Amino acid sequence: MYEKFEKRAEEILCTLTLKEKIGQLNQVPQPVAGNLEETKERIRRGEIGSFILCNSPTAGNEEQQAVMVDLLNELQKVAVEESRTGIPLLYGRDVIHGHHTVYPIGLAAACSFDPELVKKCYHCIAKEAASESVHWTFSPMIDVCHEPRWGRIIEGQGEDPYLASRMAEAMVKGFQGEDLTADDSMLACAKHYVGYGASEGGRDYFRTEISDYTLFNSILPPFRAAVKAGVATVMSSFNDINGQPVTSSKKYLTDILRGELGFEGFVVSDWTAVHQLMKQGVARNSADCARLALTAGLDMEMTDNHYIANLENLVLSGEISEEVVDLAVKRVLKIKIAKGLFEKPYKEPYKVDRTEHIKLSEKIAAESMVLVKNEDNLLPLSKDMKVALYGPFTYERRALQGSWALDGYLGASTPNFLEAMNEVMAGQKGHIHHSYEGVLHDDCTYIFSQNDVIVLALGESHAATGEARCSADIVLAPNQVEMARKAKQSGKKVVGVIFCGRPLALENIEPYLDAILIAWHGGTRCAHAAAKTIFGEYNPCGKTSVTFVRKTGQIPLYYNITKSGRNVDGYYGEGYAQNYIDSLGSPMYPFGYGLSYTSFEYSAPEVDKATISLDGLLAGENVRVAAKIKNTGERTGKETVQLYIRDHVASCMRPIRELKGFEKIELAAGEEKEVVFNVGAESLGFYNFENKYVVEKGHIDLFIGENCLTNNLVTIEIV
Ligand code: BGC
Repeated sequence: MYEKFEKRAEEILCTLTLKEKIGQLNQVPQPVAGNLEETKERIRRGEIGSFILCNSPTAGNEEQQAVMVDLLNELQKVAVEESRTGIPLLYGRDVIHGHHTVYPIGLAAACSFDPELVKKCYHCIAKEAASESVHWTFSPMIDVCHEPRWGRIIEGQGEDPYLASRMAEAMVKGFQGEDLTADDSMLACAKHYVGYGASEGGRDYFRTEISDYTLFNSILPPFRAAVKAGVATVMSSFNDINGQPVTSSKKYLTDILRGELGFEGFVVSDWTAVHQLMKQGVARNSADCARLALTAGLDMEMTDNHYIANLENLVLSGEISEEVVDLAVKRVLKIKIAKGLFEKPYKEPYKVDRTEHIKLSEKIAAESMVLVKNEDNLLPLSKDMKVALYGPFTYERRALQGSWALDGYLGASTPNFLEAMNEVMAGQKGHIHHSYEGVLHDDCTYIFSQNDVIVLALGESHAATGEARCSADIVLAPNQVEMARKAKQSGKKVVGVIFCGRPLALENIEPYLDAILIAWHGGTRCAHAAAKTIFGEYNPCGKTSVTFVRKTGQIPLYYNITKSGRNVDGYYGEGYAQNYIDSLGSPMYPFGYGLSYTSFEYSAPEVDKATISLDGLLAGENVRVAAKIKNTGERTGKETVQLYIRDHVASCMRPIRELKGFEKIELAAGEEKEVVFNVGAESLGFYNFENKYVVEKGHIDLFIGENCLTNNLVTIEIV
């Protein structure tokens, strides 16, 4: 994909001194006032290839300088017109799930099960950021994760490799568009490659233990999909795998990433990850760091200065060959060429019309919200009701944007829940009674009793999630649980709207809430999406992209676990001997789960053939499996129809269920539709212990249903 730029890259490379080559591999933070002149001097000398437009390593939860287009043009001018090489600079920034308009965090967006919608939103993000000179975003984060204690679970797409792959592809295509040189396109970066989501105990920057079997089947698929979608760059991850830091691993960065996945772009390190090779105890000094990372296949170094300080000496002393440097430089140049930077290095800033972006932000927020409980059809509420609105998220704005929203417009641009509720109720009979501080008062029981229903705006702060924000206990704060208890005590029905980043363990609060809407950190229009959902303007249709445990001690709990010896259902169900003696073993809410204000009925799946030959499958034949889905309720609704498989007997132990397809459909009341999946070799095989993709003979169940616990199945045989 990027190989076509090889010749031009080679021509440029030939004109560079060794020092200038190494400069292309050097990424530095954006200059601050005090070092501007010195930075320009460095650019003139060809020492800088790229800037990361941020000032601190855990930028997701810290205030950052806004993008300064004038300054970026000024620096670019120095690179293009005043340096000997004339090679333009590449500007990268963490534009993760939004720029000025913010969309739901990755974990939430995945709950929409709507890759087309996600792609549209990510294209809007690119439009906004690219208009300000951001060439390159450090997104999407596609780490499959079973660890809700890990603060960064919010950034990925949850626990399922298939869902994450579909989303990864959508995000990459959304950011990059059809034409990388276009004004509204931004280079994407698939991160964190690889295994970072498996950090032991959910502690950030920690070790991981990952077999190749798990890597190939569960962790690599979204990266494979991103590469296939043309992702221009990949960020290597902080973690080690089985005692080998990824930053210095040829196995992961070259053999697998390039050899197996076919990646043709360049690899950038994570912030100070090259430096951390010393802390991880595999490098003695700065020169070791540079040598190990570069020879492993890490092309550009983010902020550490080990490459710039050492690579020249390492080449001159013969410790590494200049060819290794050349290879990395060519990869960087190819992406700069592909982006069209040589033709169009500057940006005339222009104002992007955000009207459509904001609309989409509400749409995707609404489609991401998951209704997990709705006793006696309490929701939707009637607009005639008197509503007592309490809870710490009544007034909150910033947290609604989630972690990693560096440039999201706040103030009136991100309405809070109270404003949204009032807007939805404007001109209606009912009204909203709210507590000013969003906390419990002595008289709250009285107030609760004076209203028809209580809505509690609960949640966790954006600063309690994201990078370096891990939690040993993933529950709501005790004062929120107490508020829910008091509300329930009043005898009125209680609705909990939970604005969260991770799948919280809700066992201790769930009994006090008659209805629960997981609203997530849903971005700019999160509050409106939630308020309109509560009053029925939107019919909820999000499905969980990750398992919700009952209590923290159940972690890890994920649906696609391999079978186990004494219970074929692994420990996801309530089986013999697998439970804890002090807790149910099953999840609070399983993967793929979510309620609607209407109901759906599934017919038994039917196949066009009960047997298929292995040769036929490998030659591209499919099994057609279909089911009819009927809206049996009284309103129009959307349903994500899910296809799972279960392999009865294989040469390696296989999961109890694996998602292999989904389709989101809309049905009017009483309407019925047939949903068809064509199941081929790409769905029915797996990577075996030799890391080879194999499809084996035998029986396979095909399930079509509403979540991962469905038992609506038909069995086929591969012969
Ligand atoms: C994070 C990355 C991020 C980088 C640059 C690191 O600490 O792990 O996800 O892109 O910082 O801000």
